Amino acid sequence: MSKFMVVYGTKSGCTRGVAQRIGECLARKGADVDVVSAQEADGLAAYDAVIVGSGIRMSQWHEPARAWVAQNAEQLQQIPVAFYTVNLTMAKEPERAPEVRAWTDPVIESSGVSPLDIGLFAGWNEPKEFSFIERTVLKALKAPQGDFRDWDAIDAWAETVSEKMGV
Ligand SMILES: Cc1cc2nc3c(=O)[nH]c(=O)nc-3n(C[C@H](O)[C@H](O)[C@H](O)COP(=O)(O)O)c2cc1C
Repeated sequence: MSKFMVVYGTKSGCTRGVAQRIGECLARKGADVDVVSAQEADGLAAYDAVIVGSGIRMSQWHEPARAWVAQNAEQLQQIPVAFYTVNLTMAKEPERAPEVRAWTDPVIESSGVSPLDIGLFAGWNEPKEFSFIERTVLKALKAPQGDFRDWDAIDAWAETVSEKMGV
């Protein structure tokens, strides 16, 4: 049985939910899946493929997710890898997808990995999940409120990626 790791970087928990959903989709197809945060993710030796992603703050992946990719770049270059990014731009202005992709590209390029796929997903603006300062920033950005995670889009992407990974 193929063994997969789904790695996530999150601050509010939104991206953990996306990672869990991707993991559930792979598990339904018969894969053995570990869903782990970038801070907790261990070595890659046991894994056949990896899906790694992060939420966005100020146009950047979270530092622990960037660091995890950088630290594991050499091994990631040897196995199939897909990347995903969770943010509010995809909820508010999906036509700005190329810009969101550009926030993700530096992480991929500096790792030297050729990704199987790159998923760009809408996240949430749930005020109860954010600090006062974070709420203030999102208000200033006129970010819409709500949970914009599109589970069908996430499932469809996970399905495509699992096929590319041979699950
Ligand atoms: C302080 C702050 C800055 C943010 N900056 C951006 C941004 O630059 N672009 C964007 O599309 N979303 C931005 N977001 C929205 C988050 O990416 C979104 O809420 C996401 O769902 C958070 O998931 P996470 O907590 O798992 O990282 C920002 C959110 C906060 C609180």
